Amino acid sequence: EKGGYPDFMLKEIYDQPRTVRDTLAGRLVNGHLQFDELALTPEELAAIDRVYIIACGTSYHAGLIAKNLIEMWSRIPCEVEVASEFRYRNPIITPSTLVVAVSQSGETADTLAAIRDARIKGAKVFGITNVVGSPVARESDGVIYIKANKEIAVAATKSFLGQVAALTMLAMLLGQIKGGLTTAQIRMLFRELADTALQIEQILADTSAIDEAAAACKDATSALFIGRGIGATICYEGALKLKEISYLHAEAYAAGEMKHGPIALLHEGFPVIAVATKSPTYDKVVSNIQESKARGALIVAIATEGDEDIKKHADYVIYVPKVRDCFSAITASVPLQLFARSIALLRGCDVDQPRNLAKSVTVE
Ligand code: M6R
Repeated sequence: EKGGYPDFMLKEIYDQPRTVRDTLAGRLVNGHLQFDELALTPEELAAIDRVYIIACGTSYHAGLIAKNLIEMWSRIPCEVEVASEFRYRNPIITPSTLVVAVSQSGETADTLAAIRDARIKGAKVFGITNVVGSPVARESDGVIYIKANKEIAVAATKSFLGQVAALTMLAMLLGQIKGGLTTAQIRMLFRELADTALQIEQILADTSAIDEAAAACKDATSALFIGRGIGATICYEGALKLKEISYLHAEAYAAGEMKHGPIALLHEGFPVIAVATKSPTYDKVVSNIQESKARGALIVAIATEGDEDIKKHADYVIYVPKVRDCFSAITASVPLQLFARSIALLRGCDVDQPRNLAKSVTVE
């Protein structure tokens, strides 16, 4: 059942290129994006003036990535909220509000309750899920299915990349509708998005640098993940994965926040995992790395292939292929998943079934 892999988590990590390919398959027809059930009319789509993405855990992190893309391409204000908060406050909802509910299982109690509440208040709801016919799919006005197939390990991996791919296409659709993206740009972006499947394969072909970095961090009691922009959003996911399966305490911060508190935590050998892929804020992340290094931190950098300079600042460098910044979440997340798994195994943890957790959270 594990297909020759030692655990489901690893099997599912290696299933990610296929997940991305299948989630994208058949979606772009004559320069137009097609979704499974899009019950919104072109007029309703064109009228959208606010987007809320609601989700929990890893699915929430996929939402954080999507916010960047939605606002960049469509200029529609987008907020991302954990469903358990959204459902108990009084968000601003009008008939031109789009609520995007993201849930691998399609049955998370808080996400479902938030969908119901949003629909009562008049929002249009779009569901992104892995499970056909799940409550999230049934109760939404439109659905994009991610094609991750069954995910067994409690830690979400391939479903996360599927969600990011689906949300990226939704952001492209909104960009096209609002005039921020031309059909030619949609085609180009879609091609690059599809290419990430190959880039993930490249990362998976040699994971030795990830294992070396994990071995250096395994005995830590705490770790900090830092990055900026899309890099910061991946850090939240990297820290969650590490906590969830290795029980090593980890926190993620937008790197610019270091000086506002977290830097006080640093001491000799404290692991700082920095997402330092090439992006408009690359230099800023490098300065944050230098500041951390100056306090004795052990730096693990996720960097873009060809970036030799980063070796001057980091103790361990994990390279990922060069991609457009907006797609870096897809590639740079993969080493963070493997990093968490490697540390968990070195600490003797059961990576598929971490303590205290269930695969779907159907009660509040
Ligand atoms: O099925 P969902 O996507 O709604 O689940 C949400 C979270 O419970 C889930 O992502 C959880 O955080 C994962 N175990 C993280 O790896």
